[in-house]
Amino acid sequence: MFDNTIRPRRLRASDHLRRLVRETRISPESLIWPIFVIEGEHIYEEIPSLPGQYHYSPDELHRMVERAREHGVSRVILFGLPKDKDAIGSGAWAADGIVQQGIRAIKALDPEMYVITDVCMCEYTAHGHCGILCGHDVDNDQTLALLAQIAVSHAMAGADMVAPSDMMDGRVAAIREALDKNDFQNVPIMSYAAKYASYFYGPFRDAAGSAPSFGDRRSYQMDWHNSREAMRECALDVQEGADILMIKPAMSYLDLVYQCRQRFELPVAAYAVSGEYAMIKAAAAAGLIDEYGAMCESAASIYRAGADILITYYAPELADAIRKGDIG
Ligand code: PBG
Repeated sequence: MFDNTIRPRRLRASDHLRRLVRETRISPESLIWPIFVIEGEHIYEEIPSLPGQYHYSPDELHRMVERAREHGVSRVILFGLPKDKDAIGSGAWAADGIVQQGIRAIKALDPEMYVITDVCMCEYTAHGHCGILCGHDVDNDQTLALLAQIAVSHAMAGADMVAPSDMMDGRVAAIREALDKNDFQNVPIMSYAAKYASYFYGPFRDAAGSAPSFGDRRSYQMDWHNSREAMRECALDVQEGADILMIKPAMSYLDLVYQCRQRFELPVAAYAVSGEYAMIKAAAAAGLIDEYGAMCESAASIYRAGADILITYYAPELADAIRKGDIG
């Protein structure tokens, strides 16, 4: 008869022991907090679709910097909400565009804050698509030149890293070439390598005013039935010179985080997107789940799958949870 000398429960007996044998170790250093900067003055408003997240005009960014500092978060990714939009998204690369203003404001408040920028056009085009339109189709190659211009303008404003999220073919190479030509060899590219046409971006599109005015993003973002295609996208971005590979969304895509970690040597980032955050918030508000616990558990699962970096709206709260030892 099996005598039960081997007892996995032995290592679960106390908190001391459970923390000793944790397989997943997380540091607040690996968190990136998404921030929405809005054109205007004296704007500090909670975003209805993302409770606990705010729209900050550049003059109000000190509130974000203070909160980040308080929680020991020192890496942010910026999204911009311009006052005006046009067909070609020209606000995206304007020297005094909203993201460019945001970068300067944050660097003036805290030069140590690591500022990453989302490089895309959907917040700046009147039609809400992620590139230049040719009829109803996004023209890949025309869009590349503009994306490169956006990335360079972010670097000129002081961005530490750029993160293209548009899903055009060849954009990492185009951006790398333009950055290098402009003496930004040391600005890394975190590529949204496998970005899916996801329903989980809903709250973000409200927050960023970037919902497409017609159609959807399925001709450029990925089909969520596919995983081999995601590895192909990652491999291409490696060849094109990406420095960090991102999988997005995170929670429903842990198989891809895992595969990406196994296959490639680059750091792997996962983006726990707006819908993932909003779902936890809504379920907690309805009294259905414990918000703090669900936040910790979902973050741990993303790291366990292999993420080195987590982009999350919960960055400040998670940093505290990690420090307390409730996670990591
Ligand atoms: C811009 C962009 C989006 C997100 C990040 N960058 C929206 C989209 O592709 O529609 C989504 C982030 C989130 O949902 O938290 N292209």
